[in-house]
Amino acid sequence: MIPVSSLALILLFASSAAGSQGDRIRQYQLEADGGRMRLAMKEVAQPVPGESEVLVRVRAVALNRRDLSILQSRYGGGGDREGLVPLSDGAGEVIALGPGVTRFQLGDRVAGTFFERWVDGRRTAESNASARGGAIDGMLSEMVVSHEDGLVLIPDHLTFQEAATLPCAAVTAWNALFTHGRLQPNDFVLLEGTGGVSIFGLQFSSAARARPIITSSSDAKLATARELGAFGTANYRTNADWQDEVRSLTGDAGVAHVLEVGGEETLPKAVQALGFGGHIALIGGLSGSASALPIRSFIGLGASTTAIYVGSRADFEAMNDFISEHQLRPVIDRVFHFEEAPAAYEYMASESHLGKIVIEL
Ligand SMILES: NC(=O)c1ccc[n+]([C@@H]2O[C@H](COP(=O)([O-])OP(=O)(O)OC[C@H]3O[C@@H](n4cnc5c(N)ncnc54)[C@H](OP(=O)(O)O)[C@@H]3O)[C@@H](O)[C@H]2O)c1
Repeated sequence: MIPVSSLALILLFASSAAGSQGDRIRQYQLEADGGRMRLAMKEVAQPVPGESEVLVRVRAVALNRRDLSILQSRYGGGGDREGLVPLSDGAGEVIALGPGVTRFQLGDRVAGTFFERWVDGRRTAESNASARGGAIDGMLSEMVVSHEDGLVLIPDHLTFQEAATLPCAAVTAWNALFTHGRLQPNDFVLLEGTGGVSIFGLQFSSAARARPIITSSSDAKLATARELGAFGTANYRTNADWQDEVRSLTGDAGVAHVLEVGGEETLPKAVQALGFGGHIALIGGLSGSASALPIRSFIGLGASTTAIYVGSRADFEAMNDFISEHQLRPVIDRVFHFEEAPAAYEYMASESHLGKIVIEL
C-alpha cells in the first residue's frame, strides 16, 4: 500500500472556487511539486468546439490507478507534465456542436473513450497519442471538447456517475474477458484484488454465467464480492499460497481466465492457478511490473496471453450493449465533490475502496 502521507496533495485555487461565471470554467491542471505533481484548480476560458467536435458539460469523472501513478510521477507512459488536465474517465451531456458533427445531438448523454482516436481495429500510433489524461487533456474539467469519434452514448439506465466509471477499467475488463478471452458460461475466472478492473471483471463474468473467483487482502471485501456474484474467494494476505485455494475451488481444473492486475507478486501464482488452454490478460502491475513469463508453463498448458491496453470505441460500444442487456450497475465505493478532488486521489492511495471512486461536478 502507498502511504497516504507521501501524497502531499495541495489544492491551489487560481481564482475563486465559487463556480464558473460567464464564459469561464474551472478545471484541474497538474503542477510540478518536487519530484511529483499536484492538482491545481484553474479558471480558464470555456472551450469552443471546432470542426467535428462536441462540447460536453462534464457531470462526473472517475479515478483509475493510472491517474494516481501520473500524479506520483510513477507512470511510465508519460502524462506527468505541467498543465495537463488529468483523468481519462468522465461522462456528461452534449451542450454544443461544432460544424460537421453527425454522430450526436444537443442533450445526448455521453462518455469519453479512453483513447480519443481509437475507433476500431488495431491500435495505432495516432490512437496512442490520444490517451486522455496522459497524452492529451483529460476530463477533470467542468467542460471538455472532444472529437465526435471519441465519445459514446451511455446506457439509458445508468446515472452520469455510474457511466463515468466505464471508459478505462470496464473496457479493460471487457476486452480481456470477451474480445481476447472469448469467455464461455461456466468458465472459471481469476480476479486479483477488489479494485476497479477486478470488480468489473466480477460483474461481467457473473452476468455471463461464468464462475468468478476473486482475491482480496480483506475478508470484509470478500464478503461484498460474494454478494456481487463471486463463485469463490481467497484472502491473499492471510494465505500466501492463495493460488492453491483458487485451484481447489475449480476442482483442480484450474482457471480459464486471469485478469492479471497484480504484476510481480501475482503473475507467477496466477500461472500456477491456470488450467489447460487458459488465457491470461496482462493488465497491470499493482505490486510492480512482472518482468518474465514462464514460457515452459505456457507451452505445457497450451495457454495464451494478451497484453491489454484498455480498448477501442467498438469495444466500449459492445460492452455498453452487454451492460444494457443485463442492466448492470457499476459499483461505486465513494463520491467526492469537485472541490475535493485531491481527497479522492488520497482515498485511492489508501486502497480502502472496492470498485470505483467518483468525483461529481
Ligand atoms: N493495461 C490497461 O489497459 C489497464 C487498464 C486499467 C488498469 N490497469 C492497471 O491495472 C491495475 C489495477 O487498476 P485499478 O484501477 O483496478 O486499481 P485499483 O482500483 O486502485 O485497485 C486497488 C486494489 O488492488 C488490490 N491490490 C493491490 N495490490 C495487490 C496485490 N499485490 N495483489 C493483489 N491485489 C492487489 C487491492 O485490493 P484489496 O483491497 O481487495 O486487497 C487494492 O485495493 C493497475 O496496475 C492499473 O495501472 C491497466
